[in-house]
Amino acid sequence: MRKQYLIGNWKMHGSKTSVAELLNNIKDSEKKDQSNVNMIVCPPYVFLEQTQEFLKNTQLQWGGQNMAAEQEGPYTGEISALMLLDFGCRYVLLGHSERRHLYGETDAQIAKKIDLAIKTGLAPILCVGETLAERQAKLTNTVLRTQLEKVLDYGSDRLKTAIIAYEPVWAIGTGISAQPEQAQEVHQFLREQIKFLGSDLAQELPILYGGSVKASNAEALFRMPDIDGGLIGGASLDAVEFLRIYGIFASIAGHKI
Ligand code: PGA
Repeated sequence: MRKQYLIGNWKMHGSKTSVAELLNNIKDSEKKDQSNVNMIVCPPYVFLEQTQEFLKNTQLQWGGQNMAAEQEGPYTGEISALMLLDFGCRYVLLGHSERRHLYGETDAQIAKKIDLAIKTGLAPILCVGETLAERQAKLTNTVLRTQLEKVLDYGSDRLKTAIIAYEPVWAIGTGISAQPEQAQEVHQFLREQIKFLGSDLAQELPILYGGSVKASNAEALFRMPDIDGGLIGGASLDAVEFLRIYGIFASIAGHKI
């Protein structure tokens, strides 16, 4: 059975007060916790200590939203993998489309970060996805293949501890989610490509869907056989909505094979 994950990406939102409130509320999800179902939150760096404090004795995990491609040194404004570990992170989001498109991160840089994360002991959550223009030009598969290829250039075992998140750029923060069948098709393609690129991890690798997931569309998405959970942005900032999604997710994930 593949591991199933629900991940909240808080992006650049929150204050000490709102983060405390959110953490307090999502701790309730523990009551519904099941061994195959994992919840992770990725707060802004400055709230990691607070998150660690709140969640340290719970089943919930937390992670960074990004990290530097270098171990340490004169890189003003950057955060290292070791720093994330120091604050109890076990996961790190890498290659989020906002990093790729707003900050110009390349496939090569992202692949280097994945390599460093793994060497440092963090499980990378590799985000991949096509833009609307790429989809319309029928380039979805080519784009996704390249995004994976660069990572696997470092070795076919580079995805061993990884989680993949398929996030079509046109669905992120737009309110327009991919159709469940459309997402399923891509997830299946990703698994085939990972196998084709020489990794025998394809069947065990968790592949999550992200992009405008809400309680109203979660069930249909999570029921798809190759969708192993969700990466949730906007809806993860509202504890009631996030827990509603979690409830739907947990009841389906517990029955997946
Ligand atoms: P969204 O964001 O759920 O607000 O679309 C998803 C993400 O960017 O990870």
